[in-house]
Amino acid sequence: MDRRLLSIYNLIDPHAKGLCDVGTDHGMIPIRLALDGFTGDLIAADIKSGPLSRAEENALSHSVHDRITFCLCDGIPEHLSGRFDTVVVAGMGGDLICSILDKADWIFSDGYTLILQPMTKQEVLRYYLINNGFFISDDILAEDSGRIYQIIRCRYTGINDSYSDHELYIGKKGRCPDQELYSRAAESFRKNLEKIINGCGSSEDESKRSFYINMAHQLGSKTI
Ligand SMILES: C[S@@+](CC[C@H](N)C(=O)[O-])C[C@H]1O[C@@H](n2cnc3c(N)ncnc32)[C@H](O)[C@@H]1O
Repeated sequence: MDRRLLSIYNLIDPHAKGLCDVGTDHGMIPIRLALDGFTGDLIAADIKSGPLSRAEENALSHSVHDRITFCLCDGIPEHLSGRFDTVVVAGMGGDLICSILDKADWIFSDGYTLILQPMTKQEVLRYYLINNGFFISDDILAEDSGRIYQIIRCRYTGINDSYSDHELYIGKKGRCPDQELYSRAAESFRKNLEKIINGCGSSEDESKRSFYINMAHQLGSKTI
């Protein structure tokens, strides 16, 4: 298991009632839980039969096939909702994760913990979560093969939290356990912003430019 998947795995409560891995593909998360003696229900769900078969084959080769329910479905399977209290949606764009959550409004309940790992559009996902009453308790960063991945653990409270603009993109510093990695992620984000700002020449980009300039200042830019 690579560091991205391991960081997701480490956020799962080993005493959870059950886990549903949406967009499971290889199935490594439920397989690892089964191998480690997780006693709750395990559901591996995918919208495509190819990836779901891959998960089934991998589970079979690890002799944990009988421990996992494989579900071919779009998004979070509502008909199995009583069997899990933890949902993982990982390795997809932040906008796709938003649309999966949006189609499952029954998940807007304090009975479910969501562990989300957007590959892109992290700011779209955080904006969606905080404006729909989810409290993000953990903004985790995981570095693997030179890339920094973001992982969000959250739960519905019904109260809208507030995030500054740059926090929407990289998370809240105080909710990230690896402060050194957070500082590096913030630095790299600031440098990217400076590149974008210097590339925004025309007047039609002015509002975007000033938005980016504000964020670069929030992150301590001295050159902009
Ligand atoms: C890139 S893989 C990620 C696999 C694994 N979750 C990970 O993080 O390594 C994305 C998987 O999500 C599945 N997927 C995409 N949209 C989905 C949806 N609406 N419902 C369920 N699965 C979906 C795809 O078929 C694919 O297997």
